[in-house]
Amino acid sequence: MSVESIETNPLRALSPQDLRAHAAEALTRARERSVALTDIDDEELVRQHSKLMSPLVWDLAHIGSQEELWLVRDVGGREALRPDIDDIYDAFQHARADRPELPLLGPEEARKYVSEVREKSFDILENVPLQGRRLTQDAFAFGMITQHEQQHDETMLATHQLRKGDPVLHAPAPPSARSGRLPAEVLVPGGAFTMGTSAEPWALDNERPAHEVAVEAFFIDTTPVTCGAYTEFLDSGGYQDPKWWSERGWAYRSEHGINAPRFWKREQDGWWRTRFGVHEKVPAAEPVVHVSFHEAEAYAAWAGKRLPTEPEWEKAARFDPATGRSRRFPWGDEEPTPEHANLGQRHLRPAEVGAYPAGASPLGVHQLIGDVWEWTSSGFEAYPGFAAFPYREYSEVFFGGDYRILRGGSFGTDAAAIRGTFRNWDHPIRRQIFSGFRCARDARPGEVG
Ligand code: AVJ
Ligand code: FE
Repeated sequence: MSVESIETNPLRALSPQDLRAHAAEALTRARERSVALTDIDDEELVRQHSKLMSPLVWDLAHIGSQEELWLVRDVGGREALRPDIDDIYDAFQHARADRPELPLLGPEEARKYVSEVREKSFDILENVPLQGRRLTQDAFAFGMITQHEQQHDETMLATHQLRKGDPVLHAPAPPSARSGRLPAEVLVPGGAFTMGTSAEPWALDNERPAHEVAVEAFFIDTTPVTCGAYTEFLDSGGYQDPKWWSERGWAYRSEHGINAPRFWKREQDGWWRTRFGVHEKVPAAEPVVHVSFHEAEAYAAWAGKRLPTEPEWEKAARFDPATGRSRRFPWGDEEPTPEHANLGQRHLRPAEVGAYPAGASPLGVHQLIGDVWEWTSSGFEAYPGFAAFPYREYSEVFFGGDYRILRGGSFGTDAAAIRGTFRNWDHPIRRQIFSGFRCARDARPGEVG
């Protein structure tokens, strides 16, 4: 029997008119962010800031292209606005490194294109029935396209981080630590819990269906690993000693000459970093960000621990021992507020550990949602009963590939694109993303409650 939070899902309680307004608001918020991220000189929009990333102007038009495909053509049954550009903005046709050579829409054209598509989407949202078809049930397609735009906004934010030159993005600092001294780790009891979801209306195909998973009792770090703790690993020669690294991780470290997290540099007075064009001392109390899976794994070995598996992470984030239910978020079933988590590019950095006591799980695990994506030791696989929806290229074609799962979202992830069940994945060598981690370890006999 699966035990998840069904009755309390806020979307399910809305009238059709309120559901339409909610979807429109989510789309509008995503667009405001896309506009802000592309509010720079044309030359900066068309340039490739890193071989790992697309030019920002590609992401912008790709956002419009996906929206046209799903909302205008499929849901709306309308004619194509620009059938001629489908291929250019198909992520499977062209690798990121090759996208600058494509005959892309220019900045002016791209802006005009995405707003024309959006006008049609709003018209369709007003008029299409929100039931009778799985794609439009609970306004799913509108939620999917909102999440798609927000995901590319996070990708564009990572492109901004790779860009050289003076800062163009600005945001207030996140809250400081406001928990008292936290214990280093928390015991998560063994036993079955409900993983994934069948009830979350805007959950994507790879999060479905809800199913029971048993885990052994384990300990998980109360907070993500901080820059201060990570610096101890660095300063004790962790990057020079293969004994902490997997064979693959060591080969990758050696081949690429990796000696610290991306964007870090050792100066005379310690470690400094560059963050959206600002050069600053590495803040000891903040979660470390811009590390690869291999680096996370090496740190965990050095600390005498390991990375959590994906089911362990989700149990720590969702399991409520008082009821046996899996929550939507660590703090409960309510949508994230600024009190719960550092999300949505409200701040341009992770917050100090202990900054979000209201976002802790019932077991007392902090900052699972927001701040930094957290590497897990698991690959990207289908849940039992998985069915691709609405297209195989979102998830299915990546199952079994050379990926590791990341959970929880970062400061650059919008609330619309994160929840306790959300699954992200990337290659284990990637670190231009906002990736950090926390450690776990087996519970020894005698340590289990
Ligand atoms: C789920 C973040 C791995 O950006 O590659 C965007 C999301 N899929 N467009 C990605 C996605 C299609 C995807 N991740
Ligand atoms: Fe995409």
